[in-house]
Amino acid sequence: MLTELTQLRDAALAQLSPIWDDAALEAWRVKFIGRNGALAGAMTKLGALAKEERPAAGKLANEVKLALESAFEAKIGAMKQRALSESLESEPLDITLPGRPVKRGRLHPATANLREMYRIWREMGFQVFRSREIESDETNFQLLNIPPHHPARDNWSTFYIADTDERVLLRTHTSPGQIRAMRELGQNGTQPIRVILPGMCYRYEQISARYEIQFNQVEGLAIGRNVTFADLKGTLTEFAHRMYGERPVRFYGDHFPFTEPSAQMDVQCIICNGKGCPMCKYTGFLEILGSGMVHPTVLRNGGYDPNEWSGFAFGMGAERIAILKHSIEDIRYFWGNDLRFLEQF
Ligand code: PHE
Repeated sequence: MLTELTQLRDAALAQLSPIWDDAALEAWRVKFIGRNGALAGAMTKLGALAKEERPAAGKLANEVKLALESAFEAKIGAMKQRALSESLESEPLDITLPGRPVKRGRLHPATANLREMYRIWREMGFQVFRSREIESDETNFQLLNIPPHHPARDNWSTFYIADTDERVLLRTHTSPGQIRAMRELGQNGTQPIRVILPGMCYRYEQISARYEIQFNQVEGLAIGRNVTFADLKGTLTEFAHRMYGERPVRFYGDHFPFTEPSAQMDVQCIICNGKGCPMCKYTGFLEILGSGMVHPTVLRNGGYDPNEWSGFAFGMGAERIAILKHSIEDIRYFWGNDLRFLEQF
């Protein structure tokens, strides 16, 4: 049996080497390694061998099988190679033809916009802190001073993804990252913090030209011993100037349960420069973010003593800005993955 197998292998390899055309190669395959080929035939005889002879014969049969299969693959490669060189030699090659242009990839407009924001905040001393998209009710709401059944919850239509003892949800804003940043970076309320927290947020909305169920926010958090509302105004004004150019900004009172006082910031309309246009609804200004001084309860929940520490926070929608800048009339284009849209950026 062992001799039969080695002879079979040697004969097969010897017959393979002069083959250079597809039909002969296929015939060789059928003859030796096909389902009813010589090797398969030899293998059926293994069962009839005496028990002691079987392991050695089986092992050799497998080796022969692998050897023939790899020789077959190698032959295919060699034949392709030969065909290519033959065609290169025989067919004329016009090296003056222009090459085919390579299509360059590019960043998604939302990514490019986010990176621009990271750059500016980095220059202003803010590090990126990544927080999770799947959150607990506790962190997304309760620790931010929004207890169960509080009417402010209406502002954040929520996707609940599990209703266990602790409700699990998709974060409705990046603000729960404030709690996680304070607890992870604050070292029990002893260290100052200066971070931005970017990322996807989800809301249970009716999707339309103006509302999507997902969007990026960029949250910011600065905690220190003497952080004041003046710091908030100065920092956000500086950001707006770096992002949108030196144009007027204005702050006015707003309400969020997790900041006190709270303020909305507007920048002069980047479309009409304050003259009034449909984009700014003829007010001359565009709302770009919500902000405020971190509420004492939230500071305490993050491990800080509000008598010694203070801070400001802000949150802005990232796509909104790109929409305004490029006059994009439908927010659904952002996640629609339509190349006709994406290639415009
Ligand atoms: N989280 C708020 C929102 O989604 C924005 C905000 C963040 C307001 C931080 C104040 C401070 O609308």
